[in-house]
Amino acid sequence: MRFKGKVAIVTGSAGAGIGQACARSFAKEGAGVVIADPNSKRTFQVAEAIKKDYGVETLGVVCDASNKEQVEEMVKKTVEKFGRVDILVNNAGRELLAQCVDMTDEQWNVVIGVCLYGTFFCTRAVLPYMIKQNYGRLVHISSVAGFVGMDDGESHYCAAKAAIMGFSRAVAAETAKYNITSNVIAPGLIMNEFLKRIYPPEVLQKWHTMIPKGRPGKPEDIANAVLFFAAEESEYITGDILTVAGGFYMHQ
Ligand SMILES: NC(=O)c1ccc[n+]([C@@H]2O[C@H](COP(=O)([O-])OP(=O)(O)OC[C@H]3O[C@@H](n4cnc5c(N)ncnc54)[C@H](O)[C@@H]3O)[C@@H](O)[C@H]2O)c1
Repeated sequence: MRFKGKVAIVTGSAGAGIGQACARSFAKEGAGVVIADPNSKRTFQVAEAIKKDYGVETLGVVCDASNKEQVEEMVKKTVEKFGRVDILVNNAGRELLAQCVDMTDEQWNVVIGVCLYGTFFCTRAVLPYMIKQNYGRLVHISSVAGFVGMDDGESHYCAAKAAIMGFSRAVAAETAKYNITSNVIAPGLIMNEFLKRIYPPEVLQKWHTMIPKGRPGKPEDIANAVLFFAAEESEYITGDILTVAGGFYMHQ
């Protein structure tokens, strides 16, 4: 029960991927969790299921991370229910494949809106509470796409995921004095239904062969890393980036 008494918001946590895996891992360790996701049906279902499975308090809030009013309301509801917010996992993300030459403004704005503005809106909304508490753990889910170019029509996604790294470092420097840490996880290929739907099997197979570990990641592989950064014991680690990619990308 490493996180008993702590409260964690996880954005984009109603799907079957990294977000829900993080929420479940926090709940398993005793934390109260907030499921913040625009999918209204799944948001409440997942919040209920986690409460039942782990016996912790949960809150489901329908929230589009790229909408600042909804984000502010979600954080307000969190503090109304739990009285505090200790951990924010900026997990919400969108992909809309388009080569740069063909990309519409709308495609660019949707991806930048969820991945980058969403990270900013959520971070800004929790910081006043974390500063007041003199405690906070910010974990931002970027991607190896923030380090390497992708040839699949992801220029907006790569731009947002790289920007999250710079954002996190700046926030880390600003908030270290308040006992707040800000760190990034850069996942490699984490298999989920969405990826299976948008990429042809031959593309996924090509990626598998490029992973030294010999398999794609599981959402739980990322959740384990998120809990590491979110732990009280990680207080001296801030402004850092942890790649979790089975050796697919090894940075200096
Ligand atoms: N799956 C991968 O291979 C992979 C690799 C690198 C990085 N990532 C990143 O990890 C994160 C989670 O991805 P995942 O693939 O595990 O999916 P996930 O299951 O965690 O799904 C993403 C969730 O985001 C939600 N979402 C969509 N638009 C939103 C919005 N506007 N506001 C809030 N939530 C929204 C969806 O409803 C869904 O529940 C994303 O940021 C993604 O970019 C994923």
